[in-house]
Amino acid sequence: MQRRYFVQLFILLLLFNSCKKENNTSCALNDALYSKADYPIGVAVEPYKLIFSTPYYNITASQFNRISPENCMKFEYIHPNQNQYYWDEMDSLVQFCKTYSKSIHGHTLIWHKQLPEWVLNFSGDESAWESLLKDHIQTIMLRYKQNIYSWDVVNEAFNEDGTLRNSIWRTKLGDRYIELAFQYAREADPNAKLFYNDYNLESNPNKRTAVLQYFDNMKNRGIEIDGIGMQMHVSLYSPDVNDIALSFQEITEHGYLLHISELDIAINIYKKLEYPSKEKFLQQADYLGKIVANYNQLNKQYQFGITFWGVSDADTWLVNFYNRPEYPLLFDNLYAPKSAYCKLLDVL
Ligand code: XIL
Repeated sequence: MQRRYFVQLFILLLLFNSCKKENNTSCALNDALYSKADYPIGVAVEPYKLIFSTPYYNITASQFNRISPENCMKFEYIHPNQNQYYWDEMDSLVQFCKTYSKSIHGHTLIWHKQLPEWVLNFSGDESAWESLLKDHIQTIMLRYKQNIYSWDVVNEAFNEDGTLRNSIWRTKLGDRYIELAFQYAREADPNAKLFYNDYNLESNPNKRTAVLQYFDNMKNRGIEIDGIGMQMHVSLYSPDVNDIALSFQEITEHGYLLHISELDIAINIYKKLEYPSKEKFLQQADYLGKIVANYNQLNKQYQFGITFWGVSDADTWLVNFYNRPEYPLLFDNLYAPKSAYCKLLDVL
């Protein structure tokens, strides 16, 4: 009996929470966020949510003009077995993007996470690993050559201290796996924009310097890379906007296109809030405004665009990843625009 009562209470709490929204935002939903910007405004999308949620579909279609596949292009999903690619989900996303004239940013070809068992257990020699890497990159890029113009070729290859991460790729192929990946990508599509993508590049100067040195050196040896993706999973509490501005300057001064590739602004990093106060949402909006204002000041030729990592707070990866309530995006749990959205309309 007690248990039943508890379960009922839990369900009520869940319902109550999912109905909460940030009240009195200062603006209504605009026709199209992206039409305000001089560069693409992107969002990470799960194709299955486009099917099951009307508000998710409508906001994605109306507000953003660039799409990053949130998961369905990752190795474990798109290449689950050695001789089998699974295209259906990505194909459906391409269809959606065609219908609404959105560009697609391919995320992500080579990463140490979300790998299928067959890769983890693969027991070939170095040349077999090279073929595996090449086949994976080129099969995907060639299939979507007409539809995808930019790619995260390598994701998260560096440790925080600036050394190279000991991923399975590095273990099997050595440091050169990164340049091999870029070479194979370039071979598959001479016109695509090729990116290296990582986190904490705005907050950790050691990591940023190491990344810039590595890719400057690679470029000097004639291996092409076009841009750097700064994921920017930031929070209300760090990093300081001035540090962010400095990182934008440094990366573009080195001649890289700059993609803010996975932006979200966490509020609840101390896990203390059940639901944030109005003030916290305003702080979030203000912080976003400052980030974007700094991005706007960069030389236009380097502004590749800003992508948010999820449509609404109901969709953020941070909840599962850190096991806490979190509210880091432009739309609330009910897909109503938040103060951050209004601020973005103002500053774009
Ligand atoms: C995340 C997705 O959002 C989650 O749904 C998934 O469970 C794990 O990956 N850096 C990246 C993204 O490059 O691909 C990650 O996306 C978030 C961190």
